[in-house]
Amino acid sequence: MPLTIVRNDITKMECDAIVNAANNSLLGGGGVDGAIHRAAGPKLLAECRKLGGCDTGKAKITKGYELPAKYVIHTVGPIWHGGDYGERELLISCYRESLAIAAEHDCKTIAFPLISAGAYGYPRAEALRVAMDTCSDFLMEHDMMIYIVVFDRDSLFVSEKLFADIRRYVDDNYVSEMTANEDRRRSELFGAAIPAPQALSAKADKKPSLFRRAKLAKLDMPMAEYCAFEDALPDDLEKAVAQIDESFTEMLLRKIDEKGLTDAQCYKKANIDRKLFSKIRSDVHYKPKKITVIAFAAALELPIDETRDMLMKAGFALSHSSKFDIIIEYFFTHKRYDIIEINEALFAFDQPLIGG
Ligand code: APR
Repeated sequence: MPLTIVRNDITKMECDAIVNAANNSLLGGGGVDGAIHRAAGPKLLAECRKLGGCDTGKAKITKGYELPAKYVIHTVGPIWHGGDYGERELLISCYRESLAIAAEHDCKTIAFPLISAGAYGYPRAEALRVAMDTCSDFLMEHDMMIYIVVFDRDSLFVSEKLFADIRRYVDDNYVSEMTANEDRRRSELFGAAIPAPQALSAKADKKPSLFRRAKLAKLDMPMAEYCAFEDALPDDLEKAVAQIDESFTEMLLRKIDEKGLTDAQCYKKANIDRKLFSKIRSDVHYKPKKITVIAFAAALELPIDETRDMLMKAGFALSHSSKFDIIIEYFFTHKRYDIIEINEALFAFDQPLIGG
């Protein structure tokens, strides 16, 4: 998962670089600045003295000294004055400048605190959104593991309204494990309506899709002959047969193809790292984690029924006895597929994040 939110003390993060929310003097202070200087030891301050300060929105790098991290990247966030004085642009610049310096120093992992969200008064939810959006944009073009480190438990990172909507949806749908087991026992005893197979989707286009090419490879048949054979079949029957025995990987590759996305666009949007995607792509029977399947479904903006289908191919289902599943169902039934928003909400409800 290239971009994730963790609850921790940033001085404990064993990353190549940790970022310090400093002030313009770079000579230490309170909050995370104070914590980093205390943990790094006096040599950090000695090196900072030589840097000659730092402008707001800019960043400078030092060694990590007694910290587990190799480097400290000091950046100075904007002080919040209501939002009309370029604060957002300066905060974005803090993340961009820090990431650029980390890339220059070949850092593979980096941890950020919520810059400006403490003494500098930047509203937390907005500060997190700027952090997640700027880091997500960076990851479209770079490979790095980025941690957003949240220190205090009480911070709410989604709007009050969204938090309340999700809580209500969970309360309305949550079925305790025991009740769910009872329902299961009852349906075993008296039979339950087998969910109707999903409506067969509309006629596929005639272009031999990646999915068909993959099938062709298995059939070891010249493309023209395969297309003639395939054209002879009614598409919906062919699709139905194909989709029944379609594996998770085959469904994923077919969906990427149908959505007109490149592989990279899909896995980056899904917060999946390149290595994991290559593993999935090269193994037609790959068994992903549930959080990975859901991340791909969000990136592909699949309707809830197709999401259930993709989960089923990987051996999973959404259950109303799981808060995580209900929150996922909330976002997909409301067609809200922004992985950053979903992960902020999952984090706010102390649930695992999606990605891989
Ligand atoms: N690990 C991770 N995050 C932390 C830690 C820690 N050990 N300590 C504090 N934080 C969090 C705070 O909860 C807040 O969400 O870091 C975020 C940034 O808070 P501040 O440290 O106050 O930084 P900022 O708001 O950018 O203000 C910078 O404060 O410490 C002084 O010298 C600093 O003058 C500068 C100003």
